[in-house]
Amino acid sequence: MKGAKWFIFIGGGALFLSIVGAMIYFGYKTFYIEQEWIEHPAYDYHFVLISEELDNDYWRLVEQGARRAAEEKNIFLEYVGPRKADNDQLLKRLDRMIATKVDGIIVQGVEGSEFEELVFKGIENGIPIITIDTDVKSSMRSAYIGTNNYYAGRLAGEMLIKQTTGNQSVGVIMGRFDAINQQERIAGFKDAIEPVERIQIVGEKESNITQSGAAQATYALLKEHSTVTALVGLSALDGIGIVEGLQEFLPNREVYVSAFDLLPATTALIKDDKIDVTIAQYPQEMGYASIQTMIDLQQSELLEKEIYTSTRAIIKENIIEYGLDEHAQYD
Ligand code: BGC
Repeated sequence: MKGAKWFIFIGGGALFLSIVGAMIYFGYKTFYIEQEWIEHPAYDYHFVLISEELDNDYWRLVEQGARRAAEEKNIFLEYVGPRKADNDQLLKRLDRMIATKVDGIIVQGVEGSEFEELVFKGIENGIPIITIDTDVKSSMRSAYIGTNNYYAGRLAGEMLIKQTTGNQSVGVIMGRFDAINQQERIAGFKDAIEPVERIQIVGEKESNITQSGAAQATYALLKEHSTVTALVGLSALDGIGIVEGLQEFLPNREVYVSAFDLLPATTALIKDDKIDVTIAQYPQEMGYASIQTMIDLQQSELLEKEIYTSTRAIIKENIIEYGLDEHAQYD
């Protein structure tokens, strides 16, 4: 009997301690605000940039642009995002940032009602939310800053028509099927090639926005469709992964390659004749403009809600002409 009492006593104590521990941990997570913000109240505003994937090269360029504007304009900027692209993780971060009552949130738009509800929650809490890179038109976001993704997809299709002759069996590699910008890009691409009978899409795969994912998708497309003559990548690391996949599995095959974005490795591969064209976006320009727009939003509503940054088709001649090299900054 005595033993049982001790058991209940120790067990109860342990339970109590774990509850208190959990409360401290989750309370910290919920109400966590960067130390630096607390120590430097001299900043004018506290903004957060939430990316699709924290360490993705493309998103680091968005961050660079945003940081430059933040420094110039006395803004405290936090940059956060899932370690690996994952909508649920992104939404969790968005929710947490709304709870910390920052002055503004700049976030990649995500498909689904949960995103729309969170944007509404942000607005109710007086926090303006801007979508960047990917828009969700159905949400109450205050503005969108980024590429016109439908137009960018069309441009990839138009370049394919211009740069090839004869029948083309096309394999498309998208970052993620459930990313709105990828859906818009493929819609534009399909509309552009639709009237041209010699060009047909034979397969579509996902890369999970990684280079190795794109290399694997390349392998799978070539295996399933031996007729493939053109591969089109719709997110930043896809073109680089396509070249890796081709070099590994079919080094002697001539395949037309279309990429997205102008990361240094892409520029190098264009110079090397491994990539025929890339549809360049200007992520630093996006990041910079998003901070400026968020500052404007602190004072008043915007007249212009869709702010499109530049989009260009870049081929080898342009790279030589502009003197771009692997280390250049692109905005
Ligand atoms: C897209 C981003 C994506 C990135 C992945 C870009 O082309 O605009 O949404 O996260 O590729 O590398």
